[in-house]
Amino acid sequence: MKIFLIGFMGCGKSTLGRQLARKLGYSFVDVDKYIEDEEGSLIPDIFAAKGQEYFREIERDSIKKLSEHSDCVIATGGGAPAYFDNMEVMNRAGLTIYLKMDSATLINRVVNSPNPRPLLMGKTREQMFALVDEMLSQREPFYHQATVVINGKNIKVTDLIEELKKW
Ligand code: S3P
Repeated sequence: MKIFLIGFMGCGKSTLGRQLARKLGYSFVDVDKYIEDEEGSLIPDIFAAKGQEYFREIERDSIKKLSEHSDCVIATGGGAPAYFDNMEVMNRAGLTIYLKMDSATLINRVVNSPNPRPLLMGKTREQMFALVDEMLSQREPFYHQATVVINGKNIKVTDLIEELKKW
């Protein structure tokens, strides 16, 4: 089985994905980390040096490549579902799970996270609120194409395992 975790920045895809993979005895791949290893460069540096368009192409190619793996949990970057046919590719390859969270919770989590997010860099809290709200409403139609939509707030890996029993 192959599981894709999708959702906005800060919703916990990587943390939960790693825990889920460990419980299932699957391998875990974080698409952003995979891209950083392939490119030999950190995500903010890729954005700065080559631009978002270049990043989105590498992201699409990585998702296609990773879709051929089996028995793994794959955490995508928050924007991935909203570009190209990425949602279709993931839905064809495995079970997609959207970790849904409200924008206020997401902002708090992103602000307190050690990972720099190039799309939110240098923004005040007010600007961030407006931007996250706008991006979330643009992206939700894509996120909702996931096979499973689950409330990500306070979710535990055991809740995800319970959900998986239905599939
Ligand atoms: C992005 C989210 C990031 C990373 C890049 C772009 C986005 O991943 O892919 O900074 O467009 O939302 P996380 O969701 O893991 O932060």
